[in-house]
Amino acid sequence: MTIIGTPKESFKGENRVAMTPQSAIDLKKLGFECMIEKGAGAASGFSDAAYREAGVAIAKSATELWSKADVVAKVRPASTTETKKFRKGQTVISFVYPAASEKLLAASKTAGSTLIAMDMVPRISRAQKMDALSSMANIAGYRAVVEAGNKFGRFFPGQVTAAGKVPPAKVRVIGACVAGLAAIGTSTSLGAITYAFDVRPEVAEQIESMGAEFVFLEFEESSQDSAATGGYAAPSSPEFREKQLEKFRELAPEIDIVICTALIPNREAPELWTEDMVAAMKPGSVIVDLAAERGGNCKLTVKDEKIVTKNGVTIIGYTDFPSQMAAQSSTLYSNNIRHMMTDLTPEKDGKIKHDMDDDVIRGTTVIKDGEITW
Ligand code: NAI
Repeated sequence: MTIIGTPKESFKGENRVAMTPQSAIDLKKLGFECMIEKGAGAASGFSDAAYREAGVAIAKSATELWSKADVVAKVRPASTTETKKFRKGQTVISFVYPAASEKLLAASKTAGSTLIAMDMVPRISRAQKMDALSSMANIAGYRAVVEAGNKFGRFFPGQVTAAGKVPPAKVRVIGACVAGLAAIGTSTSLGAITYAFDVRPEVAEQIESMGAEFVFLEFEESSQDSAATGGYAAPSSPEFREKQLEKFRELAPEIDIVICTALIPNREAPELWTEDMVAAMKPGSVIVDLAAERGGNCKLTVKDEKIVTKNGVTIIGYTDFPSQMAAQSSTLYSNNIRHMMTDLTPEKDGKIKHDMDDDVIRGTTVIKDGEITW
């Protein structure tokens, strides 16, 4: 019988796990046996006992897990210690980021194993159930607002109380794809006045349907059509960018919270909240820069840190928001993995059919039996 196994994540501070007791139950329906490394789910709130109850075998060590599992499902790209455990015929499914993972690809090639990258799932409707980047961005967007609220010294909604009138907080979300829309939804439901901007004007309707205001720019630019770039944005022209910054600058003094999520695939994050805009903000304001991993939309952002500027603005550059909500992110990520396995096991007989004619499977397969297919 084919065994799917999940090790404990070895990356420092990583709390997520790629298999939950519930996803194991679903994987077993596809004809697989499931195994986890002892304690793999603990940081996400899933005990070994809960896995055992779901019929999951517990491996005593990472070595046992890697040697017994035919398919290894994990979150982070395999570490050097883990790649040494790769073996011929084994399939490893995880985030891979192939453009930045030369050594990992080489190890899989040498071992003759197969590597599937959850970060390469195309953003098409059929593949949404496997889109792990979206699952994680959704959590990050939500958490960014919660985190901002934690550091912000006032209410989100406006209130009239016996002790005085409180104005509503003003939140500005830059970039309105998955993370941005999640941030908008969280911000409006907490009662803040929310403004959002994206270079793709087609998202205006979505923004407005969530109760936020789309910041319109009077500017015509053909590169704003994202249909040609698979739903992602293309870089804007310098003229457009200037117009955008001018508008942001005008609004900066009255904004309390900025949530930055703007990104263009395979590039450094565009600088959109400049130093002078930060300087124009009131003390106590908060910026959460989700684009920190790629340099940030605000250049003052320090990756993985929280800083406070001279004028009292808190800037948060954490890149591990999904890991900070590990119970939620492990549940969604393990579902993404399970859906991937469903597509890889069309007969539900525990036998993997790696169909390279399938767009999604083809797109996510980075190495197939030791051959680079990325
Ligand atoms: P995405 O790439 O789907 O969306 C980015 C959005 O930014 C697009 O809608 C795009 O049109 C927009 N954009 C690009 N240039 C812009 C500009 N000049 N002005 C306004 N909007 C612009 O990304 P997704 O999935 O929504 O994720 C957002 C960010 O969150 C990414 O940077 C991602 O790496 C990050 N992220 C951060 C995490 C954390 O813990 N910090 C966890 C997960 C994701």
